[in-house]
Amino acid sequence: MAKKVAQASAMPDPKKIKSIGILTGGGDCPGLNAVIKGLVRAATGTYGWNVTGIEDGFDGLLTMKGCNLSSSDMSGLQLRGGTILGTSNRGNPLMYPVKENGRRYLKDVTGDIIANIRKMGLDVLVAVGGDGTMKIAQALYEKGVPVVGVPKTIDNDLDVTDVTFGFNSAVTIATDALDRLHTTAESHHRLLVLEVMGRDCGWIALEAGIAGGADVILIPEIPFDLNTVCEHILARKKRGKRFSIVIVAEGAYPEGGRKVYEQEPGADGAPGRLGGIGRWVAEKIGLLAKMETRVTVLGHIQRGGTPTTYDRILAMRFGVEAAHLIARGKFGYMVCLRGRDIEAAGIKDAVRRLKRVDPDGQMVRTAEALGASMGRPA
Ligand code: F6P
Repeated sequence: MAKKVAQASAMPDPKKIKSIGILTGGGDCPGLNAVIKGLVRAATGTYGWNVTGIEDGFDGLLTMKGCNLSSSDMSGLQLRGGTILGTSNRGNPLMYPVKENGRRYLKDVTGDIIANIRKMGLDVLVAVGGDGTMKIAQALYEKGVPVVGVPKTIDNDLDVTDVTFGFNSAVTIATDALDRLHTTAESHHRLLVLEVMGRDCGWIALEAGIAGGADVILIPEIPFDLNTVCEHILARKKRGKRFSIVIVAEGAYPEGGRKVYEQEPGADGAPGRLGGIGRWVAEKIGLLAKMETRVTVLGHIQRGGTPTTYDRILAMRFGVEAAHLIARGKFGYMVCLRGRDIEAAGIKDAVRRLKRVDPDGQMVRTAEALGASMGRPA
């Protein structure tokens, strides 16, 4: 209770706000610049606030690197990929790697960040990011920083919002890759495997798999059985289909097995880098189904380039609504999409758990009804 009172008194009177800051944190994705445009246009045009763009995520609050963002700077920005502010998905300020007196260790540097926010004259901080960024934003809010969140990630794994911007662009790119793999798989009678991102969630693989007509869709939420997958491919062969397409999420793993990492998670809490399950699956299925296989790892292509129309609109709406949230004094909240409306939810609710694919949900059942195998053990 005492904490709540302390927080409330530290929060600014919305009528007295003059200057706000915005940062983009975590991995980039299409639509970040569209959020910046939405926020800056509403903040400067509707409310008359100054907006400072902070460089490279929370790092920019440690180095105090930022620049003024004007309305005219925003022209045409909605179609530009990446983030004009730069970002970083390393160096969590709650556990920041520092070297002091020749010793390396992890230190909570949020005190420095809070002091620098004051020095930079920022009344409010807008944090655009995924679950990692939102956890840091929530920690800053609990220490008295007026924060508003905007949910981003190609992984679509942030809870409380129906969709994050960036996801639609990633699914569109992955679907395009499947379309292209289809024609060459058919010509060469091959088994082609596409590995996509998504971290611990299978949203990209599932939706692109449905849209691109994949024969097998493997996601982390349904540990797969290799024999089931092979039987499905062999049954296709028997029906005269001499090729097959498998889409596998980077976080998928066989039942009783483990996830495949390019770089294992670190003891210091570093998340590790997933990658390699596509090759593993291709080798195993290729041998069992006696098919020539090739693997494509889509990688960062899913995160680059122009946002889709859907993501541009969603991101600009998020940016505009973030400004309105500030004007209403809704600190500690994050904009989110519910149905067709942009609403607000507590940042703490967004980071409580990951939004994972429901293995028995409508989307998975749709994929199966369309004829795809999810590798579900029999
Ligand atoms: O969270 C977005 C994401 O692209 C994940 O899908 C992927 O596992 C990870 O980031 C890759 O991170 P990095 O850019 O550090 O390789």
